[in-house]
Amino acid sequence: MTSHIIALAADHGGVELKDVLREDLVKAGHKVVDLGTNGSESVDYPDFANAVADALRSGKANFGVLVCGTGIGISIAANRHQDVRAALVHDAFTARLSRQHNDANVICFGGRTIGAEVAKDCLKVFLETPFDGGDRHARRVAKLNGLSK
Ligand code: RB5
Repeated sequence: MTSHIIALAADHGGVELKDVLREDLVKAGHKVVDLGTNGSESVDYPDFANAVADALRSGKANFGVLVCGTGIGISIAANRHQDVRAALVHDAFTARLSRQHNDANVICFGGRTIGAEVAKDCLKVFLETPFDGGDRHARRVAKLNGLSK
């Protein structure tokens, strides 16, 4: 298994799942950079998406995990960043395809919408699946950044 450096963050709606996923990642031998939040106090999800985007941009991590109540707000916020391809996933199939077709570098979950075991399975599949690359997918991913017309 390839071990990764993974930046992890959540708002108050995702903190419980974030902590479960952190434990699972550490057990699997990955290095985890936990960027909070760390309690139930209400916080703003864009701040945590921005923290993970910063960690990726600066090279402090090579993948990100974000959790809010639904996964929607935090994925929207993460995708405002140029080099982030954040995928809100619900099952192993969407987790796998987000890597194969979209070269996603951040996986997002809804802490109030997904069970912990399903989320753990998604995360494992996400980290084990390479980008398919090739003309089709590489061209489309390049277009996300305006690198190819
Ligand atoms: C916070 O209550 C909630 O709005 C947030 O976690 C998320 O679901 C937003 O998309």
